[in-house]
Amino acid sequence: MRVLITGGAGFIGSHLAEEYLEHGDEVYLIDDLSTGSLENIRHLQQNENLSGRLFVTVDTVLNREKMIELVGTCDVVFHLAAAVGVRFILDNPLDSIITNVRGTEMVLEVCHLFKKRVLIASTSEVYGKHMHAPLVETDNCIYGPSSKFRWSYAAAKLIDEFTALAYHRTKGLPVIVCRLFNTVGPRQSGEYGMVLPRFVQKALAGEAITVYGDGTQTRTFTHVRDVVAAFTRLILTQEAYGEVVNVGGVEEISILRLAEKIREKSGSASPIHIIPYDQAYPRDFEDMQRRVPSVDKLRQLTGFAPTMCLDGILDDVVDHFRKGGPP
Ligand SMILES: NC(=O)c1ccc[n+]([C@@H]2O[C@H](COP(=O)([O-])OP(=O)(O)OC[C@H]3O[C@@H](n4cnc5c(N)ncnc54)[C@H](O)[C@@H]3O)[C@@H](O)[C@H]2O)c1
Repeated sequence: MRVLITGGAGFIGSHLAEEYLEHGDEVYLIDDLSTGSLENIRHLQQNENLSGRLFVTVDTVLNREKMIELVGTCDVVFHLAAAVGVRFILDNPLDSIITNVRGTEMVLEVCHLFKKRVLIASTSEVYGKHMHAPLVETDNCIYGPSSKFRWSYAAAKLIDEFTALAYHRTKGLPVIVCRLFNTVGPRQSGEYGMVLPRFVQKALAGEAITVYGDGTQTRTFTHVRDVVAAFTRLILTQEAYGEVVNVGGVEEISILRLAEKIREKSGSASPIHIIPYDQAYPRDFEDMQRRVPSVDKLRQLTGFAPTMCLDGILDDVVDHFRKGGPP
């Protein structure tokens, strides 16, 4: 099979590429390297058993001609390219919306042109400000005002979802929307506001770990290996076409407890500093208090749900950074 991965030099994309290459498939990547890096795929390019089946294009998904060439070549498409990370979105508000709205529409339009199967990476952020758990795919989406740019990411991804579902409904495009909850693992960068790599890097350096808000907000964490397993199953599941599916872990933990656990696992004496949101992000920020997925739909569609426990996930990430980063 020929697999196209947009955002393939990113964290999740590079793991997905590795999985398909190891199973003998041809993998085509397109990435503009805005938050991704060729370092993430260097080990694949240097592996002589894999490199002959890996084709890398450094370009933007907004380049329609290039996308026509790539989608036309491939059998399935995973659309992962996006502006991501709270810090990145707040620093690049306009470009982020253009990438996340126009880029996705372009990918869907070109996939429709060639009638190709496509999986779109959405996010748990689309649920917005909920307090209850677990979140099911039919729950409401509740956002703050447009003056708070933090919500632009969620709103753009929600438009992506509507566009994908409209392509399915009106043109029969075989498209699946995956709402990813915090996905973590080797190669994730802490540079753009991702909490786990940021905590681990600080703990290993013996520097203060900064918790924003009051630390009672909770999250679940999914190992990237489980996300890749969900993706590869969903793209082959006909009943999933035209559906929105949560992909996430189910072990809920507060961010303060997460910081403490990471400090323990790193054998670190780093202090933990709690900083109110208005000091961390002077404008535009509001947090979501809880984010726990129901994975019933994923299990029902594929017979699979993430299995890796939180301790195993944290150990893996700490180990990765101890060894010095990618691959
Ligand atoms: N990691 C998570 O916890 C998480 C959670 C929810 C959703 N997601 C979604 O999963 C996808 C992958 O995220 P990730 O965590 O691997 O982040 P990432 O930043 O590592 O990957 C995104 C990749 O897209 C590339 N990119 C950005 N704009 C592009 C453009 N215009 N053209 C081509 N490439 C472009 C970046 O360079 C990067 O390599 C994203 O769509 C993101 O919204 C991730």
